[in-house]
Amino acid sequence: MNVPHLAAADLTFNEETQSRTALLYDRVKKVIPEIEWAVHAPKIDAINRLKAERNAVILGHNYMTPEIYHCVADIVGDSLALARHAADTEADIIVMAGVHFMAETAKLINPNKTVLIPDLEAGCSLAASITGADVQLIKEKYPGVPVVTYVNTSAEVKAESDICCTSGNAKQIIESLGVDKVIMLPDEYLAQNVARETNVEIIAWKGRCEVHEQFTAQDMRDFRTSYPGVVIIAHPECPPDVVDEADFSGSTAGMADYVGEKHPSRVVLVTECSMSDNVSAQYPDIEFVKPCNLCPHMKRIELDNILSALQNMEHEVTIDPAVTDNARRSVERMLNGWAPGQ
Ligand code: 13P
Ligand code: SF4
Repeated sequence: MNVPHLAAADLTFNEETQSRTALLYDRVKKVIPEIEWAVHAPKIDAINRLKAERNAVILGHNYMTPEIYHCVADIVGDSLALARHAADTEADIIVMAGVHFMAETAKLINPNKTVLIPDLEAGCSLAASITGADVQLIKEKYPGVPVVTYVNTSAEVKAESDICCTSGNAKQIIESLGVDKVIMLPDEYLAQNVARETNVEIIAWKGRCEVHEQFTAQDMRDFRTSYPGVVIIAHPECPPDVVDEADFSGSTAGMADYVGEKHPSRVVLVTECSMSDNVSAQYPDIEFVKPCNLCPHMKRIELDNILSALQNMEHEVTIDPAVTDNARRSVERMLNGWAPGQ
């Protein structure tokens, strides 16, 4: 393959780079100062040119920093949207600007495409909280109870499950099964939050998101005192008493949609830091109160390693053939629908 930009990506900020990236800067100027743009722009330009030459697509999670989210990602969204788009893409190469379980999900759906993740260490505390052997033990304890597994898990765990879900469709997936009891893994708080919205009994695991578990109900009350009139939107990976204090709870896409629809004058997104930057770049007239909990895994993805991923075709995501078929089945059931016994 002839890839002219492979060898020599010129990373100086010159007039040419400036003019090629000027429209992109318009999208982020509210959140990225000009002095920083001079560092980002040449990398953004090199990534976008390489992407076209490689026939690659970059899927970017809502927690990516604004220069990734607004300037190099082709598709952005929550975990569900990224899984759906991974299923649709015509590109030869998928670069996952997100964490490892998202890249694995994209690979499961696209076994014949090359899926790259810029940093193999971009993990997730939820995915790390449970193994396939744990799921086998739970199934032995509750025979016949369907296992609904959050996409924030390894392929090995998905393979032991009946169907996947995301925070955007968890209630709908659980209710679609037509049963009165499910096992929902591994996020304890997501399970508790969904349990309050449904009559289906939920057996939970003890996994936690290390970003969302840090928020407290007192933080929410403090926001209301310090920022009168603030609308509080919390991710359902937060503890239930935090969600209780919020005006709305939903997946990262649900949170962004809520801001777009309701257009509050002052808002706090109770989730990962970059989410507020990305949404606030789109709505310059809304005041975003920014409590900041960074996801150290998401923050491993940077322009530098995205560029290097495309230049060197690294790091290719592979899945143990022993779990591939069953893990894919759980993801496809989420995307296409399924009922126990089918
Ligand atoms: P969603 O984008 O699906 O809401 O998930 C949040 C998250 O923590 C992903 O790692
Ligand atoms: Fe995992 Fe939480 Fe980071 Fe999402 S924000 S990748 S759930 S640790």
